[in-house]
Amino acid sequence: MVYITRRERFCAAHKLYNEEWTEDENLSIFGKCSNPNWHGHNYELYVTVKGVPDKQTGFVMNLSVLSKLIEEKILSKIDHKNLNLDVPFLSNIIPSTENLTITIWNELEKEIEKMGGKLHCIKLFETENNFAEYFGK
Ligand code: NI
Repeated sequence: MVYITRRERFCAAHKLYNEEWTEDENLSIFGKCSNPNWHGHNYELYVTVKGVPDKQTGFVMNLSVLSKLIEEKILSKIDHKNLNLDVPFLSNIIPSTENLTITIWNELEKEIEKMGGKLHCIKLFETENNFAEYFGK
C-alpha cells in the first residue's frame, strides 16, 4: 500500500461561536477566536489517498486529477469565503479545524472513489502550530 498526498492552500475567514451561548460564554471558551467581526487564516490542506500503484501508470491516483477534484469540490467553495456564512456544506457547523476535516472528508470521499482512489486522510493546518487529521471515523 502506498500513500500519496496533494497539498492545497486556501484563505478563509471565520469565528468560533456557539449561538446557544452568550457573548461572554463564547469569549471564555473560544477566546479571541469568537471575535464577532471575524478573523482569517491561511489554511494548508493535505489530502492523502492510498492504494497500490497501477501497473501501467505507476500511479496510486493521478495527482492532477486529484488536484482538480479538490479545486472543484472544496477550494472553489471555501477559498476567500466566510466559513460561517458562505459555504453550504458548513451551514450550522462550527468551523473549527476538527469540523473542517470531517466536512472536507465527506465532500471528497465518494468523488475520489469515482476516480478510482481511496481516501485515507484529511489533514488541515489552521496555523503552523495547530492542525487536525481525520481518517473517516
Ligand atoms: Ni480561527
